[in-house]
Amino acid sequence: MNQKSMNPKNILVTGGAGYIGSHACVELLQAGFRVVVVDNLSNSKTESLSRVRQITGLPLTFYQCDIRDKTALADIFAHEDINTVMHFAGLKAVGESCAKPALYYHNNVYGTLALTEAMSEANVKQLVFSSSATVYGESGCTQYSEHFPLGAINPYGRSKAMIEDILRDLSAADILNQAKAPWKIALLRYFNPIGAHESGLIGEDPNGIPNNLMPYISQVAIGKLAQLSVFGNDYPTPDGTGIRDYIHVVDLVKGHIKAIAALEGGTFESGGCKAYNLGTGQGYSVLEIINAFEKVSGRRINYKIAPRRAGDLAECFANPELALKELGWKAEKNLLDMVADTWNWQTKNPQGYASVEAGCASTEATG
Ligand SMILES: NC(=O)c1ccc[n+]([C@@H]2O[C@H](COP(=O)([O-])OP(=O)(O)OC[C@H]3O[C@@H](n4cnc5c(N)ncnc54)[C@H](O)[C@@H]3O)[C@@H](O)[C@H]2O)c1
Repeated sequence: MNQKSMNPKNILVTGGAGYIGSHACVELLQAGFRVVVVDNLSNSKTESLSRVRQITGLPLTFYQCDIRDKTALADIFAHEDINTVMHFAGLKAVGESCAKPALYYHNNVYGTLALTEAMSEANVKQLVFSSSATVYGESGCTQYSEHFPLGAINPYGRSKAMIEDILRDLSAADILNQAKAPWKIALLRYFNPIGAHESGLIGEDPNGIPNNLMPYISQVAIGKLAQLSVFGNDYPTPDGTGIRDYIHVVDLVKGHIKAIAALEGGTFESGGCKAYNLGTGQGYSVLEIINAFEKVSGRRINYKIAPRRAGDLAECFANPELALKELGWKAEKNLLDMVADTWNWQTKNPQGYASVEAGCASTEATG
């Protein structure tokens, strides 16, 4: 079977019930794709998929399945006419990865191996992979380009770097062997995805205490958490706090749709595996984010200055030029959009998707 004989509009989304995956489902459905979600619900709820249906008015197919279950995956590929896989499924908490490295390598690295084996056996060889800026090593620079040296410093980052290596090797082997339908793989290195869909129906719903800045600030603003710790105010930056490249989750997932188009087009005509930064190219400090949040929400964010955390850089942002040149993608939303959409989601869903039980939101059934 030739890769091209499959319906190019049929996409399998692993981790599609999660934060970024659910936003990808909305964009895919609205762009006319048919979506099949595979998720083991280890960090998500099917309510997110009900909301995707509510936003789009379109159906999607859901399989509750672990990507490490190769037999189940083979069955899904046998029943669904899949052309491309968007692979979001993975564990993502840096701190947890340091405490439970084997879990991260098994879930993320072995999970991706099982997925690519099932794909290969079904002759589905187009893949868009969720990588991360954490794969970059310290280069002494603040703006990261794709050719910069890699050197992740924690098990989560290393799991992403290992997966990138595996995917590059799979692709190189196909090119070496002059495979008729070689792997076509886009490695998308995300900077710091934040924000939510403008409807306020889907957004980030962390389990327990959030690990990332934006959901933490919004839970302080809503009163769920008492105080934010700002780690370090003595960095060599204008206000002393760390600077990061934040990107709106909707911009981010639009980059994935562009990546699918690129996989189908000239850049990947003879196969290949390429990395692209998905960031805005603009950095904001922690204090700038807090100020923007206070302005949008009208609430004061209670914060304290805490010591720097080991491994944190003063400043890190993307060079997004390659994605513009080869994918035709550029982030369009600004910081106020990111903050306003986060706050809209938080106020409409104070307990995340669990709010539905308190009667705060949609109750459409999933299936
Ligand atoms: N959110 C970020 O800041 C960020 C930054 C860089 C990269 N990423 C990557 O993007 C991807 C999506 O991130 P997210 O923020 O949406 O996370 P998320 O936890 O909200 O979504 C991940 C989804 O994958 C599912 N999952 C995990 N392991 C699975 C398995 N073995 N089989 C099937 N499903 C499984 C979870 O249930 C969840 O629904 C992840 O791979 C993450 O590492 C995220």
